[in-house]
Amino acid sequence: MVTVRESSLVGRILKLKKARNAVILAHNYQLGEVQDIADFVGDSLELSQKAARTDADVIVFCGVHFMAETASILCPDKVVLLPDDHAGCPMADMVTAEGLRQKKQELPGATVVCYINSSAEVKAESNVCCTSANAIKVIESLDGAHDILFVPDQYLGHYIESRTGKKMILWPGFCPTHLRILPQHIVRLKQEYPQAKVIVHPECRPEVIALADEVLSTSGIIKFAQKTEAKEVIVGTEIGIIHQLNKGNPGKRFIPASEQAVCPNMKRISLEKILWSLEEMSPEVKVSEEIRLKAKSAVDKMLEIGKG
Ligand code: 13P
Ligand code: SF4
Repeated sequence: MVTVRESSLVGRILKLKKARNAVILAHNYQLGEVQDIADFVGDSLELSQKAARTDADVIVFCGVHFMAETASILCPDKVVLLPDDHAGCPMADMVTAEGLRQKKQELPGATVVCYINSSAEVKAESNVCCTSANAIKVIESLDGAHDILFVPDQYLGHYIESRTGKKMILWPGFCPTHLRILPQHIVRLKQEYPQAKVIVHPECRPEVIALADEVLSTSGIIKFAQKTEAKEVIVGTEIGIIHQLNKGNPGKRFIPASEQAVCPNMKRISLEKILWSLEEMSPEVKVSEEIRLKAKSAVDKMLEIGKG
């Protein structure tokens, strides 16, 4: 049911979006009302690909800071708006460029792979970037690399190691939201829904991953949900994704592994803030040219590997 508030805001946003020649990109964890107004909803990889290809003048990025920065890295001539400039990613903040430079000195010659959940400055210090959708492919492409330093998510790093058999040096970062999902949550739900498939995000702890039928990026989860014959699916990731899952699959039931798996930063963006950002053309996220060029090399390498 669309409320009077929503329909009035949506009308104003759409008008202004047209006037500004803007595109609205939203991550799968955004509030339902934000997902519904977006031109495109996707995972980090898809959103960076969309940003790279758009011919809009303005990108309204409904996600968190590192995602808007990635758009700025790929589209220096466009205005990138993040409707709430406090929407950060605590995991991305667990590695700083200075901390990474120090670690690199301890590991001369190491190849640095950064998860896209990292600042532009950290990307600028890295050799190649990856997302949860292409991490295995990126690591497998690094044939012959001696030491691989993976930042900042130790759990994604651990999962990649288990799938590729490659040992890496793992930065001790983590996603507080995904760590709220515990193995006992899955075990309990499996007892309640014995026919259900269990799909989790690779940011989950290894004990949770061990109980999953599939480990996928957010858009991977959405594609799996469309294809599976299962009528019940236990979903181990941030609960915002349930909106897309319900919308696209009316006959199926999606059960969040934990109602506590909420990313407060993703929920900072609202229709009001999208409207204000288009009115004010702010807050803008702009990466300096010096950092952008270095960071772009790591992002471009990732996008290139994805094509192969
Ligand atoms: P995806 O790239 O799978 O959408 O994940 C992004 C993210 O922030 C997960 O917490
Ligand atoms: Fe960062 Fe976790 Fe939120 Fe994703 S869910 S944006 S990794 S804090």
